[in-house]
Amino acid sequence: MTKSGSKPVNPPLWLLAELTYRCPLHCAYCANPLNLGDPDDELSTDDWFRVLKEGRDLGAVQLGFSGGEPLMRKDLEQLVAHAKGLGYYTNLITSAVGLNEKRILALKEAGLDHIQISFQSADPDLSDAIAGKRHAFEHKKSMFKAVKDNGFPMVMNVVITRQNIESIEAIMALAIELEADFVELATSQYYGWALHNRDALLPSQSQIEEAEAKVNAIRYSQQGIGPKFIFVTPDYHESRPKPCMSGWGNIFLNIAPDGKALPCHSAAMLDLPHPNVKEHSLSYIWQESESFNHFRGFDWMREPCRSCNEKENDFGGCRCQAMLLTGDPANADPVCSKSPHHHVIEEAVAKANQGCHSAALARTVKNSQIILSVKP
Ligand code: FES
Repeated sequence: MTKSGSKPVNPPLWLLAELTYRCPLHCAYCANPLNLGDPDDELSTDDWFRVLKEGRDLGAVQLGFSGGEPLMRKDLEQLVAHAKGLGYYTNLITSAVGLNEKRILALKEAGLDHIQISFQSADPDLSDAIAGKRHAFEHKKSMFKAVKDNGFPMVMNVVITRQNIESIEAIMALAIELEADFVELATSQYYGWALHNRDALLPSQSQIEEAEAKVNAIRYSQQGIGPKFIFVTPDYHESRPKPCMSGWGNIFLNIAPDGKALPCHSAAMLDLPHPNVKEHSLSYIWQESESFNHFRGFDWMREPCRSCNEKENDFGGCRCQAMLLTGDPANADPVCSKSPHHHVIEEAVAKANQGCHSAALARTVKNSQIILSVKP
């Protein structure tokens, strides 16, 4: 084990393979970066084989296939089989658009352990409107059933925003109808595209409180039977930041479609020399690179984090959120009420509490450029 400063570097337990930023959906809450790069620069199958092997050698045990939409990659089944052979626990994070019975069987045969399918609403019209794709809802439902019938543990993921928070009971009823095993009702995180749309997406305090009460009432009525519901409230409504990624360069390693290795899915926008797996080994990247060591541990912290007795719980929050909202990633995450920049969060919440008057902008990619368009 090599050292960073005086502390040993933990293994990257969780590897996230963002296979592509291409996606058939246009969700306004997408947290992908604004600059999606050139799809022709995506890692090849052989590149991924090497990276997955190096990740396993470093100690990674869990592997997520994500995107964009990972089903857009025709070699997904090959990558799953390779990962399984290396001993990973594999998880596919998908919209199910592009999935069919044949691919489900092929993924099963390849050894995939787990599938998470995203839904946008329990109402077909609203769901298709949020996703920006007609008939996506019915397809997702039928694929959810087919995946379940093939014996996969099923996770339903629903990003909660102003557009669907008031129908959270109907979303939970859908999860019960589809016999989901786990349901993540996670409020949107405001990065990338979602930050552009924050005013249109961020729920008010009363909407959060009402939704939480509904979730708790349904949980209580379940008496331990049916899906396990997890409700994640937005950090904007908290006074302490989330321990983002469980600490920078601590357990999480993200590989972007073009091979950039990142300590989180948003880090590419930070002004750091992001190493690429096309040029460096994963071992060098994880243990030695400037990017992964920059915010590792606690030595980089300024006040109020440096002397804070909660720093080992939250690691100063999220470096990307600090950059996006204060202009400097070394600042405390402004979600923290001790941050001198906390007013930017309070202002956003005050706006949300007053009601929203903006339209969300759909995520659209054309010739690798994102085009803004107004979604009703
Ligand atoms: Fe980058 Fe939180 S998303 S550190």
